[in-house]
Amino acid sequence: MEHFLSSMPKAELHMHLEGSLEPELMFALANRNGIELPWDTVDQVRAAYDFGNLQDFLDIYYQGAGVLQTEQDFYDLTWAYLKQCETQNVIHTEPFFDPQTHTARGIDIGVQIRGITGALQHGREQLGISSRLILSFLRHLSEEEAFTTLEQALPYRDSFVAVGLDSSEAGHPPAKFQRVFEKALAEGFLTVAHAGEEGPPEYVYQALDLLRVSRIDHGVRAAEDPALIERLIAEQMPLTVCPLSNVRLRVFPSLDQHNILEMLARGVKVTVNSDDPAYFGGYIAENFVEMHRQLGLNRDQAVALSRNAFESAFVSDGEKAALIKRLDDFVANYDGG
Ligand code: ADE
Ligand code: ZN
Repeated sequence: MEHFLSSMPKAELHMHLEGSLEPELMFALANRNGIELPWDTVDQVRAAYDFGNLQDFLDIYYQGAGVLQTEQDFYDLTWAYLKQCETQNVIHTEPFFDPQTHTARGIDIGVQIRGITGALQHGREQLGISSRLILSFLRHLSEEEAFTTLEQALPYRDSFVAVGLDSSEAGHPPAKFQRVFEKALAEGFLTVAHAGEEGPPEYVYQALDLLRVSRIDHGVRAAEDPALIERLIAEQMPLTVCPLSNVRLRVFPSLDQHNILEMLARGVKVTVNSDDPAYFGGYIAENFVEMHRQLGLNRDQAVALSRNAFESAFVSDGEKAALIKRLDDFVANYDGG
């Protein structure tokens, strides 16, 4: 089963590039750029990854991201993630980046985007991994700052397909960003938003109604509102769920209490994703494997989750059909490795 899960063709729709910064690369970039880190060894860094909640994690995540300075750094970060995708049979990915984390430190958005898209292009050519990039606004900052970021990004409009909303959820409702999302939609971008991770079901309604999202990132707390679940099913609204992240950030006390398979059984369009794999104990395959070990995930459920992800991807119908065919062919021909 574990071989099946790691070799099954997969799409990843919720992964923050800054969250794929492994401690080894963090030290290498810190050395290259002459930056002091508050840790001396890789083991010390990993020991610091003991989070009580989302904010505990974000404080360390933004600190780690401080080592990213040059176009080459953004390239190396993205390339390291794509090499992981290759080993885990992720054949399509739609990562996020948080430009404000870097523009706040004086790193031009063009430097970020050129480094990331250079690696994504090589991923297409050399690894056969298709991709779309998502620009995410930091919700703990103001709507005005999000507007500035969107303006800075417009010269690179061909490099990303959607805008998103991440960072500290509680106290920063989607409504705070309604106008900047309207502007992004008018510019032709799709929209997504983190909602219902630590925040209440009300934030999921706002993401749907005010930000007109095409997918909800996380959304697991929607389960507290039966009417909302009915709506998500009726609209076949994708949820990009991140099981290991939810346990590490204590959204669920343990993986065996996670609601993803209940939602799948009810007909919610749930998908499996790694969120911040360097910080949460694994990439997408580890999420699937741990769901098998601790939630009893079976083959049919795994294939349904993978199919949901391909169906929810921001690609043309033709590309979608080609991706889904690779999953179908894999399932038809799998002989146990
Ligand atoms: N940024 C990176 N990971 C995040 C998460 N899980 N929730 C909100 N913001 C994030
Ligand atoms: Zn996330």
